[in-house]
Amino acid sequence: MPAPPQARPEVESLQAYSAPLEGRRGLLRLDFNENTVGPSPKVVEAIRAIPADQYAIYPEYDGLREAVLASLAATPGTIAIEQVGLFNGVDAAIHALFQAYGAPGDRLLTTSPTFGYYTPCARMQGMVIEAIPYRLPDFAFPFEEILAALSGPPSGAAEGWCPPRLLLLCNPNNPTGTRLAPEAVLALAAAAPHTLVVVDELYEAFTGDSVLPLLLGAGGPQDPEGQKPGIAAATAAGADAAPETAAPAATAGADPFAACPNLLVLRSLSKTAGIAGLRIGFAIGAAAVVDRVSRVTGPYDINSFAVTAAFAALADQAYVDAYVAEVLAARQWLVERLVAAGVRHHVDGGNYLLIWPKRPAAEVDQALREAGILVRSMAGKPLIDGSLRVSLGTLEQMGRFWAAYEACDANPG
Ligand SMILES: Cc1ncc(COP(=O)(O)O)c(C=O)c1O
Repeated sequence: MPAPPQARPEVESLQAYSAPLEGRRGLLRLDFNENTVGPSPKVVEAIRAIPADQYAIYPEYDGLREAVLASLAATPGTIAIEQVGLFNGVDAAIHALFQAYGAPGDRLLTTSPTFGYYTPCARMQGMVIEAIPYRLPDFAFPFEEILAALSGPPSGAAEGWCPPRLLLLCNPNNPTGTRLAPEAVLALAAAAPHTLVVVDELYEAFTGDSVLPLLLGAGGPQDPEGQKPGIAAATAAGADAAPETAAPAATAGADPFAACPNLLVLRSLSKTAGIAGLRIGFAIGAAAVVDRVSRVTGPYDINSFAVTAAFAALADQAYVDAYVAEVLAARQWLVERLVAAGVRHHVDGGNYLLIWPKRPAAEVDQALREAGILVRSMAGKPLIDGSLRVSLGTLEQMGRFWAAYEACDANPG
């Protein structure tokens, strides 16, 4: 029997990115950081109203980029239509940007632990991965180390040194929740003009730490003398830390990416708007970068249902705001219980937190599953092995989680 043809060597040695996605229906799903209550009723209504004959025609995207811009509350005309790329979820944007920019032997610089899909995307391109650990004990962003890795070779290794091809920043980071001040993101982009700096802002709605308001004029990447943003100011890696120098206002109506054409921002409707199953995400950056990343996708990669849902979701920001407020209230409620019960935990940005059970994590994971609640084991992940990542939902859902957790771990018998 002839052997099947071999794939590229990078693919032959690749492990598929697999997530435990089956058998989740009917359970309280606190394992994928999804919206736990579903989308706005207006989204459901819009999907139901799609006439069947529309299933037969290829999707149309007219007006969707404008709707994305309107939802960002941008000064009209500030972000251009060509600066918005549409993708079949942010995962597809990530895959595409690696395909467009990552050549064999190129370096990916990122942090560890972080979102799991960056690594296989780098591997399938034959890239070399440099993952810098968060700083213990509180998983602070390793700003100086990232800056050093962007700026030059380790001493004595200067020959043939090239800056990393890609820097992937997840802000806030999944799964540690680590927040990075938007000024720090801009400083890293300014320090590495030959590196494509991608900031994955999937969970920014829960923190507000986005670079977009800075780029759009609430403050700009350039200082009045046209200098790069102050590294000193930006080393305030924690988002709560005030920069030493205030970022000056960008010129209204100017190209927001003029000063940082190497920065690409990723946003999605999966988590906050609650349409993860429909798949739609956005990449916002310099028109040339969005164009290159879009070149490696198919013409109809986003389906018509996702387009209809996206229009309805983008038009109902009030629904998203109310959901985010509910999650933040539920987070506070749960954290108070964790503190009172002396459960080791780590909470920062995002709609999730980490818990280190007193019993072995696998046993608690299983006991919760038997109680109808799914959480995500972080077994084998650097720095957080032995923890469980718990997605945050409504107060009622966190109440159910806490009752089950207390029963199986907080007071082990
Ligand atoms: C940090 C991060 N980026 C991207 C994604 C994928 O988002 P999407 O559903 O838009 O593909 C996820 C999903 O868990 C994520 O956590």
